[in-house]
Amino acid sequence: MKEIVLSGIRATGQLHLGNYYGALSKFVRMQEEGIYDSNFFIADLHALTTHPDPKILHNNVKSILSEYLASGLDPEKSTIFVQSDVPEISELYLLLNMHVGIGELMRTASFKDKARKQLGIKTENDNDDNIEKEIIGTDSNKRVNAGLLTYPTLMAVDILIQHADHVPVGKDQEQHLELTRRFARRFNSVYGVEYFKEPANFNFGGAPVKVPGLDGSGKMGKSEGNCIYLLDDEKVLRKKVMRAVTDEGPKEPNSPMSEPIKNLFTLLELVSTPDKVKFFTDAYNDCSIRYGDLKKELAQDIINVTAPIRERIIDIQNNDEYLAKAVRMGAEKARARASKTLEDVRQIMGIKRFW
Ligand code: TYM
Repeated sequence: MKEIVLSGIRATGQLHLGNYYGALSKFVRMQEEGIYDSNFFIADLHALTTHPDPKILHNNVKSILSEYLASGLDPEKSTIFVQSDVPEISELYLLLNMHVGIGELMRTASFKDKARKQLGIKTENDNDDNIEKEIIGTDSNKRVNAGLLTYPTLMAVDILIQHADHVPVGKDQEQHLELTRRFARRFNSVYGVEYFKEPANFNFGGAPVKVPGLDGSGKMGKSEGNCIYLLDDEKVLRKKVMRAVTDEGPKEPNSPMSEPIKNLFTLLELVSTPDKVKFFTDAYNDCSIRYGDLKKELAQDIINVTAPIRERIIDIQNNDEYLAKAVRMGAEKARARASKTLEDVRQIMGIKRFW
């Protein structure tokens, strides 16, 4: 029996370098190793937690699917599916929620972040009590929806329903994985079974990736507005990199790097050769570095990675037949395992049919 790999990306817009290096490039590599039962999906139900315009949701799903295929995911080698095509997920989500505490969900970092955004609370220093009061208050409960609170349950179900061993994700998703393991253990212990496995992140032996943005701090993210997208054309991409925040340059040899400079080096390490990284690191350390040169090289090396993918995305996204065929095949395979899991869980929980 092959070990099972599962991961997904929310359908909230185009993919950026954070998604690519934190997730998608690992999906492709795991698929190509050929030793895993690989499953990759598009999380359209998770996208509903932030209320996308119904007119664009399907297009978002389509664009991620095109980006998956253009990056090298192959429907003949991996199961590629859309979350909402597997209705068993929604039923198991209901069942698992019976064993998930409101408190543990409210303490999840991603929930607090998104709730803050929905409530229009700017700073991260607001203490948690305030946020909880705001959420429970009569007015604001209209704005923070229950789907956002139970987001980690849905993600746990995506993983557990396929009995995944490995879940390749970026660093920002590790708390969700920790919750998934906790829910799996709790389910097993409540019912006295050894049913669900405890999944783990997968990084080919390295540390989980956090791709920084170009604005000097934090991670690259859609809502941060600091992204380089796989679909950015050369001109846009060069402009974004050349505008990246820097500092005044090192004043003394071997001085520590400020965060914006560290971020540029982190990106360089992802896209460039070790020789080039060494060249610029040495130049930084002996104070001869010119940030303009660093940015030019960085932009070119990003283009070398993204340009061929971009060309394929543009090709594939117009091929409706190929797209439909890929996810139809995937849905069938994903549903086969999901319906078996759901049936098992119904049995374990004591839900029986009369016929
Ligand atoms: P999402 O859609 O926010 O992000 C998709 C993947 O991209 C990674 N990522 C990053 N990695 C490194 N640096 C960054 N700056 C960066 N930005 C994004 C994320 O870690 C993630 O791996 N909840 C998930 C989707 C999901 C899922 C699942 C994942 C739903 N069900 C089951 C795995 C298994 C999410 O919102 O990812």
